[in-house]
This record gives sequence, structure tokens and C-alpha cells, in this order.
Amino acid sequence: MANDLQQKIYIAGHRGMVGSAIVRELERLGYTNLIYRTHQELDLTNQAAVASFFATEKPDQVYLAAARVGGIYANNTYPAQFIYENLMVQNNVVHQAFLSGVKKLLFLGSSCIYPKLAIQPMSEEALLTGKLEPTNEPYAIAKIAGIKMCESYNRQYGQSHGIDYRSVMPTNLYGPGDNYHPENSHVIPALIRRFHEAKINHAPEVVIWGTGTPRREFLYVDDMAAASVFVMQLDRLAYDSQTEPMQSHLNVGFGSDITIARLATAIAKSIGYQGKISFDPSKPDGAPKKLMDSSRINRIGWKPKIDLEKGLVIAYQEFLQGNERV
Ligand SMILES: NC(=O)c1ccc[n+]([C@@H]2O[C@H](COP(=O)([O-])OP(=O)(O)OC[C@H]3O[C@@H](n4cnc5c(N)ncnc54)[C@H](OP(=O)(O)O)[C@@H]3O)[C@@H](O)[C@H]2O)c1
Repeated sequence: MANDLQQKIYIAGHRGMVGSAIVRELERLGYTNLIYRTHQELDLTNQAAVASFFATEKPDQVYLAAARVGGIYANNTYPAQFIYENLMVQNNVVHQAFLSGVKKLLFLGSSCIYPKLAIQPMSEEALLTGKLEPTNEPYAIAKIAGIKMCESYNRQYGQSHGIDYRSVMPTNLYGPGDNYHPENSHVIPALIRRFHEAKINHAPEVVIWGTGTPRREFLYVDDMAAASVFVMQLDRLAYDSQTEPMQSHLNVGFGSDITIARLATAIAKSIGYQGKISFDPSKPDGAPKKLMDSSRINRIGWKPKIDLEKGLVIAYQEFLQGNERV
């Protein structure tokens, strides 16, 4: 049944970077009954509208990739919106999906659910073992609530209603559909924009915040989409073999990290920027290292396919084609 290509699948957030990649992956696999609503057509913070949508459409499966997402600046500037909108979206979608009879749902979280000082690489067990990074705490709290919401529905209604709601925690993602906003974007799209502008303006130097030594992990978004569909389709025994009723999420990472300095060099190379790259150590670095432990999902058969070098070239081509949202 899980592989039935006729199943009605609702992708919440289908115009976002992850949602659109999940749509591409489902279409590639031959799924024919995908349904979507734009933010304008259906505001997922609106409980009545979401209830009406699910009661009318009655999808079989849901991918929950709609969220208010952003970098440090956006998280710091709009903490109220980050916690309110994310909690509302996921509460509405999970609850109304349940009421309308959805048996399978996948919730997209984030690596920021883990404590600021979590042991590296961060395993699923690190959840709720320490204080969060303050800058994105409201967002992380919403994401943790989303995992616990899925778990709680499974625990209370799993047997009686046959529901199976799962969660995946991606590392930092990049690729087609990314957000290239000068202030609200993540590190890869921000650097692609900066190096691109430096190249066309013949700027002799690009200065990057911090020392360049922090290590970060990046996953190409199509790999994430493949992992999402993989986890959604995984048979119950395999999923249960790597999870617990109260630790039900799976990490999805590339498996290795890279310094910001090396990342900047790789981006400059993929763009063809030949000026100088320097660092401003008076600006904050953030955590020295953030790497997910993805051994659980690796053990049951998922691995990434696109490395950073290849992924950056595709991402830059998409940026040039004007597919970027600013
Ligand atoms: N990007 C990453 O590096 C990354 C890393 C880890 C986890 N994730 C997770 O992956 C998920 C998707 O992220 P993304 O990068 O794809 O974000 P995105 O590109 O910003 O897409 C999010 C989508 O959700 C929609 N949305 C937001 N609020 C909505 C609302 N109230 N009603 C209806 N639609 C709404 C947005 O529509 P509008 O644009 O029209 O508002 C957008 O299409 C999130 O849960 C995020 O935490 C992302």
C-alpha cells in the first residue's frame, strides 16, 4: 500500500526548497496523485481553513515541509513569528491529518533541535539533554514539539487508528529553490550571492564573518527529498529497529563536515571568483563544529548521492537561471 503510486499525497510547503524537492522525487518515482496548496490559498496557521482542507481532500499521506525558516538574523529578529507560526502550522496539520484519517505523515525538523553543546557527531539520543542555541531556540522548541506531537499521536492512536507519523531531522540543506535573500538566508546561498556579486563587480576581496574555522555539514536538497520518501516508505519493522516510541526521529546528514574557510573556497571556485577571501575574526563564529550522526538511517539503507562540489555547481546554475527567491 505504501508504494501505491495512486495514493493521494499532500505536500505541505511544496513551493519551498525541501517541499519542491520532495515533489520532484515523488514525480520521478511515478506518483500521480499529488496535491498542494500555496500559502496564499491555504494559510496553515488557520485552524478552520486547515480543517476544511483535510476534511474535503482526505489525503492518504502527508509530507509536512511547510515552516517559517531562516538564518540567524531572521531567527533573532522575528522570534515570536518563528515560534507561533511553526507551532500553529504543525499542530494544525498533524491534528487535522489525524482527524481526517491520514495514516502516514512525515514531519521535517532540523538539526537545531539538539543542544548547543551536544556531543559531536550529534546522535538522535542528544535530544533534550541540554540547553539549546539561544538564537534559534524558539524555532527549535517548535520543531521539538513537532517530533513529540507525532510521537504522542503514535503512542495514543497508533494501535487504535493504525497511524504511523514519522520525523526526519535534516542537517543544513542547499540546492535548487534555496532562499538567497541578503539577510534571511543560510550560509551557502548567502555566500553564493556574495561571491557572485563580487565576481560581476570585480571586487578584489570578499570578507567573511568569523575565523573560517567552524565546521559545518551540508546536504544537497534532492538527497534530502530522497531520504524523506525513503523514510516514509520504510517498512515498520525497519523504522522501529532504529527508533523508540519516545525517540522516534531520524537524522539525515551528509556524514562529514567542512570548515567555513574550505566551503568559501569551494563556492568561489564553483562561481569562478578569483579575488581574495579573508576572514573577520572580530565577528562571532558560532559553535566550533556541528555534525549529525546519521548512522541510523545509513544502517537501514539510505546514503547521500551528491557531494558538495557537484551540488554547488548545480546550485549556482539554478541561482543564475533566476530560480532563486529573494
Ligand atoms: N533549508 C534548510 O537548510 C533546512 C535544514 C533543516 C531542516 N529544514 C526543514 O525543512 C522544512 C522546509 O524548509 P525549506 O528550507 O524548504 O523552507 P522554505 O523554502 O522556506 O519553504 C517553506 C514553505 O512553507 C511555506 N509556508 C510557510 N508558512 C506557511 C503557512 N503559514 N501556510 C502555508 N505555507 C506556509 C512557505 O510558503 P511562503 O514562502 O509563501 O511563505 C514555503 O513554501 C522546514 O521544516 C525546515 O525546518 C530546512
